[in-house]
Amino acid sequence: MLAINLKSYKETIGSNGLKLLEASEKIIEEYNIDIILAPQYTDIYIFSSNSKRVRIYAQHMDPIQSGAYTGHILPEAIKEAGAVGTIINHSEKKLNVEDIEKVINIAKNLNLETILCANNSVVAAALSKFEPTYIAVEPPELIGTGIPVSKAKPEIIENTVNMVRDINKKVKILVGAGINSGDDIKKALELGANGVLLASAVTKSSNFYEKLKNLAEGFK
Ligand code: G3P
Repeated sequence: MLAINLKSYKETIGSNGLKLLEASEKIIEEYNIDIILAPQYTDIYIFSSNSKRVRIYAQHMDPIQSGAYTGHILPEAIKEAGAVGTIINHSEKKLNVEDIEKVINIAKNLNLETILCANNSVVAAALSKFEPTYIAVEPPELIGTGIPVSKAKPEIIENTVNMVRDINKKVKILVGAGINSGDDIKKALELGANGVLLASAVTKSSNFYEKLKNLAEGFK
């Protein structure tokens, strides 16, 4: 699984984002890999309306029910906009444990998939008891640096795989932070991960298709 979080990068909003979506569809055709794109909330509808095989996720949703919550992200609204899942507890959008549990339960009731983020292997193992679709471990200090976790801190991946597997055999494990090439991905998969979660390598790229092709090579 290649999951790409578009965060708040202006390079991948609106029509530029749709170019990335188009390149992603092409890569899925050519490499037969799974791709998730998590755009800005305002782009979920346009992305989902134009996607064929790319899975569109929200970057976050709030633990709320329909009602008077100005400025919050209503889970039903991201589903209605066409999202099939959501990232939860990204290190740039953290939630407390009580809210994580509420959001996971809401997602399950709505049949939304979840990528639940953790900043280290101990937290990843503890959060895996909530049974998200994916647990994503990302050391915050490497995020956005271009220094790949799979090469700089391989022990985080190994420990996470071992600790999470002890608790929950079903949950899939993603790793992220600084992932920049197919080679970085290959290494992460060799260490036992099921896929990667990345952002800047793609959002900052001058040629989405070429960048995705390079990343997809890592899954071969
Ligand atoms: O959600 C993905 C992430 O935090 C990693 O960011 O830019 O290091 O790939 P980046």
